[in-house]
Amino acid sequence: MKKLFSGVQPTGTITLGNYIGAFRQFISLQDDNECVFCIVDQHAITIAQDPQELRNHIRSLAALYIAVGIDPEKSTLFIQSEVPAHAQAGWIMQCISYIGELERMTQFKDKSDGKDAVSAALLTYPPLMAADILLYQSDIVPVGDDQKQHVELTRDLAERFNKRYGKVLTIPEIQLPKNGARIKSLQDPLKKMSKSDPNQKATIRILDTPKQIEKKIKSSVTDSEGIVAFDPENKPGVSNLLTIESALTNLSIDALVQKYQGAGYGDFKASVAQVIVDHFAPIQARYEELINSSELDEILDKGAEKANAMAITTLSKMEAAMGLGRRR
Ligand code: AMP
Ligand code: TRP
Repeated sequence: MKKLFSGVQPTGTITLGNYIGAFRQFISLQDDNECVFCIVDQHAITIAQDPQELRNHIRSLAALYIAVGIDPEKSTLFIQSEVPAHAQAGWIMQCISYIGELERMTQFKDKSDGKDAVSAALLTYPPLMAADILLYQSDIVPVGDDQKQHVELTRDLAERFNKRYGKVLTIPEIQLPKNGARIKSLQDPLKKMSKSDPNQKATIRILDTPKQIEKKIKSSVTDSEGIVAFDPENKPGVSNLLTIESALTNLSIDALVQKYQGAGYGDFKASVAQVIVDHFAPIQARYEELINSSELDEILDKGAEKANAMAITTLSKMEAAMGLGRRR
């Protein structure tokens, strides 16, 4: 079995795009791989967070992982700050990183551009991410395009460490989403659906009520042709809705186009909204069961314990190889 690691920041509720592009793939991956899923709260504080809100987001994200189908018997789910080895190995990774390579990270450039006060941690965030991955001797890291550069840096840092101190770390491979289904904004179907879109109508979140979902789909931008057909270039809005329904039902786009032959956009949208509502209903029900339960705390306690044991093993090897402390 291969070892797989992925991390998601607890900032805001996950979207339909995150669900289709990332979470659903995690579920199928857990059957053939040894999976470790981390709620990366220490990454979230590289930008100031409201403490109460951060705590709520952490718990909510944990409940969502389980509600969408992560099985705590098969996979390890834990909160980054509950496993101190991340910060410790993150420091070691900072020590072997060069400022120049960190300054070249496009996410750092984007997030610091034009700001006059930028935390030092925004720059040293990729070495912490490298520590997350390397502590579990991960073979595979499933992430979106935007994280590709960070995983490449992780590989460079692991190779650099091994060259200087002996072969301690596994060099991870990046795994980009397979079907490439990119869910688009409902208001501007040329842009991707994003967690941080200021226009609330653009994004469906996994905890939206049926009413909110119906309203957002109903007001989604389409075109004036009135024919349900798949043509991402000329009919990006309609094509996006077809992509969503296809991803959630596993019906082919062709079968869906057939199904909607002769239907107007009103009926088409109502039907797509219903598919999303029905798909989310059991996830939301399980979420409600978990969110205030001791079951969730037990899962997270056990996850932290398992993660700690794995992470300490690697951290000890790294420290010994570098000559830190007294251990050999
Ligand atoms: P983000 O919310 O951008 O940090 O992304 C978390 C994960 O969700 C990544 O693996 C992304 O590839 C995936 N993801 C985010 N937005 C979308 C989208 N609109 N369509 C498909 N996948 C997405
Ligand atoms: N940087 C990632 C993001 O913003 C989150 C993350 C942190 C991560 N550590 C990770 C992803 C390790 C994969 C592996 O989306």
